[in-house]
Amino acid sequence: MESPEPEGWPGVLHREGRTLCRLAVDPAGAGLGPAAKGEGAVFHNPAMAGSRTRSVLLMQHAIEAGLLGEGTLYALDGLSASGLRARRWLNELPADSAARISATMGDMDPVALDWAMRCHEEFPPEHGEGELIAHLGDLRTAVLEHGRHWVDIDPYGPPLPFLDTAIQSLARRGVMEVSATDSAALTGSSKSALLRRYGARVRTDGLAHDSGLRVLLATLARAAARHERSIEPLMSIWDSHLLRVSVCVRRGVEGANEVEDSLGWRVSSPTAEEVGSSISTGLHPQTSLDSLPMHCFLPLSHPIGRSDERVSGPLWIGSIGQRDAMASLTEERALEMCGPPVAEDDPVGWSDRDFDYECRRVARSVRHISQEAEVIDAAHLILVDDLSSWLGSGSPPSPRAMVDALREAGHRAAVAHYGKPAFRTDAPWDAIVGASTKPQPPM
Ligand SMILES: C[S@@+](CC[C@H](N)C(=O)[O-])C[C@H]1O[C@@H](n2cnc3c(N)ncnc32)[C@H](O)[C@@H]1O
Repeated sequence: MESPEPEGWPGVLHREGRTLCRLAVDPAGAGLGPAAKGEGAVFHNPAMAGSRTRSVLLMQHAIEAGLLGEGTLYALDGLSASGLRARRWLNELPADSAARISATMGDMDPVALDWAMRCHEEFPPEHGEGELIAHLGDLRTAVLEHGRHWVDIDPYGPPLPFLDTAIQSLARRGVMEVSATDSAALTGSSKSALLRRYGARVRTDGLAHDSGLRVLLATLARAAARHERSIEPLMSIWDSHLLRVSVCVRRGVEGANEVEDSLGWRVSSPTAEEVGSSISTGLHPQTSLDSLPMHCFLPLSHPIGRSDERVSGPLWIGSIGQRDAMASLTEERALEMCGPPVAEDDPVGWSDRDFDYECRRVARSVRHISQEAEVIDAAHLILVDDLSSWLGSGSPPSPRAMVDALREAGHRAAVAHYGKPAFRTDAPWDAIVGASTKPQPPM
């Protein structure tokens, strides 16, 4: 039976990645950003296309790596709005992966689900594989009706109301992807909201978005522990106003009991004593204390002054991504799976240039991620602007030149997928200072 025709159908034809959909409001006319709430339009934010592209690629990695077992994979696009994320999973994953997926789009807006199902009927997956179900209702109840291997939570604002039930719904091993758009809270600009919601504080410096991602991971880790589970971060991304973490969740009391081992503090302008503690607890590479680093991590057990403004946390002090998962997000693979091939007489009316633009957008959404995989567990995320001011060394070095110099010296280093020019490295602070004082081409 055909789904009911929603008001405003057929709207505007739109393509994201390789997938077609219809929207009531033309996203090109709306500019980059969501259709306004309360306009009666189904929410769709074209600026978040990159988040959906990464979701497709991560799901393919999880399937290939056997993270989700062998049988049917129950996936929930929990707050689905246009349903484009779940529809992109099915359409853009290779046929043999999509064939394993039973995807549910959940939303409390019946109009959104009507549009999504009509789109699915008009533009089913090109290979014809996979199942798509619409579920109307509050996510907090819908999620518990069925065990899931994959749950995506992409709310307006904080994800907190949805975490406990979503975790409880997961199979013995599952993946959760969680977005937070309350980045003003998570990055410390709204201090009281951050303390109230996440029980943390964040220094509003250049690393605030990395700290915000870590506060979100710590919140997820604690929620998982409450339900006798533990998390392993697969990927953590700051993209415009959105902070998003993807984690593998495993059932087991032992892992849950160890939750505090991965939580702690980030201290800006640390003292020699604090750097010494960070080194002795394995959170910082061995270095002389002649020149002190800009930041270091400390374990949760370290005594911290409540009014010490140098401190962010409690936050996740472990790796914020998994090497193999991130390494799979190459530009080549993104283009192969999600890049739209040029079509003659394109129904959307795209020219060759439009196809080329979309392919470049797909590639950009994963830029630096696969290289950063090599060093995602490292202690240092260094913003080059901060480095030059800290050392009083004039114009900032380029992240690429720093990475090349550090690698040449035998350390792991990579340009970071971060919203400011930055690199990650496991090099000792002395080596970073040494590399930054080498003659370099300007940025
Ligand atoms: C930010 S939008 C989701 C965007 C979407 N995931 C995407 O990739 O475009 C949030 C959606 O959550 C729905 N929503 C809000 N609260 C909900 C709840 N408690 N249960 C189910 N859906 C809810 C809204 O109707 C809206 O469509």
